[in-house]
Amino acid sequence: MKAKDAIKRIGILTGGGDCPGLNAVIRAVVKTAIFKYGLEVMGFLEGYLGMIKNMTRKLEALDASGILHQGGTILGTSNRDNPFRFPTIVRGKKIFRDVSDQAIRNLKRNKVDALIAVGGDGSLTIAHQFFQKGVPVVGIPKTIDNDLWGTDVTFGFDTALQTAMEAIDKIQTTAASHHRVMVVEVMGRYAGWIALEAGLAGGGDVILIPEIPYDIEKVCEVVRERHRYGRRSSIVVVAEGAAPKKGEIVVHKLVEDSTDPVRLGGIGYRVGNEIEKKTGLETRVTVLGHIQRGGSPTVFDRVLATRLGSKAVDLVMQGRFGKMVCLRGLKIEDIDLKKVQGDQRKVLPNGDLVMTARSIGVSFGV
Ligand code: F6P
Repeated sequence: MKAKDAIKRIGILTGGGDCPGLNAVIRAVVKTAIFKYGLEVMGFLEGYLGMIKNMTRKLEALDASGILHQGGTILGTSNRDNPFRFPTIVRGKKIFRDVSDQAIRNLKRNKVDALIAVGGDGSLTIAHQFFQKGVPVVGIPKTIDNDLWGTDVTFGFDTALQTAMEAIDKIQTTAASHHRVMVVEVMGRYAGWIALEAGLAGGGDVILIPEIPYDIEKVCEVVRERHRYGRRSSIVVVAEGAAPKKGEIVVHKLVEDSTDPVRLGGIGYRVGNEIEKKTGLETRVTVLGHIQRGGSPTVFDRVLATRLGSKAVDLVMQGRFGKMVCLRGLKIEDIDLKKVQGDQRKVLPNGDLVMTARSIGVSFGV
């Protein structure tokens, strides 16, 4: 590994599903690198694919200007291209090959002395694998799901919450006009953070999350009871990873080349159909989908992304590699990348947030 004064040029890539705040983090990395340390910055395009195929873009201070408020990532991203398991067609058959050495050669070809990888658990696991192969790496966590182990919050989450809450607000009014049950399915993979917090902020009556398997009879009881007391509309917020007590999560499709091939989705329709059938109340379903990943980042996400990006460059210059920058309480700290893998940060079924929701009468369908 290079001594810190030997670092002249850093690389940056954004991997995994995009989220609001990625451009803010790129901006912070580029500006800190150039203004504070006089470094050069090379962007790798489309996540690790850029490293594998040598797709690059030199990032000057001007490139980092005017992007703070933009959703998406100017570098592009991919949640499929794992250099340690890269799909290749050989004699008409798809096989998976380890092309990590080729990716490392491209770092060297571009004179990149250290790499900053911005990603979720899949991309950061890959970052750790590169670190184990001797690449000086620092990771930055991002995801709308807020399920990354080792940081209290990820940027992207707050903006996704804002989007989901605004959608629920709008659904509330049409639900009330038509006296309907409205089911809103939100993202979050195997964690219920988006459903729980957007549900709380949007005034959901029932919130179904993966961490608390539900009983559909209980959900229907809540809806019927509200109806009896004259509350003729109800809002049921369902996390895509929620599942009934005696049932499975609903898988929408499998994306074979992805670090996590399972794509969830469809539970909202299952819950909505069951409610309508069992209660006889008119029910409609809205799946928010990728709208939760777009839009301009909130204040919180812009500031968090800026702090994490700047701190990541500091770590590089201190020669502290194999780390992920993180938020603990109000402070930006760091944690070993190897500790971040394998575990997911989930909602605690008896934690403060769930208890607060229960106190104000929210049902978790149990
Ligand atoms: O991890 C972010 C996320 O949006 C999840 O909430 C969702 O399950 C998944 O990515 C969707 O992935 P894709 O963009 O591949 O459909």
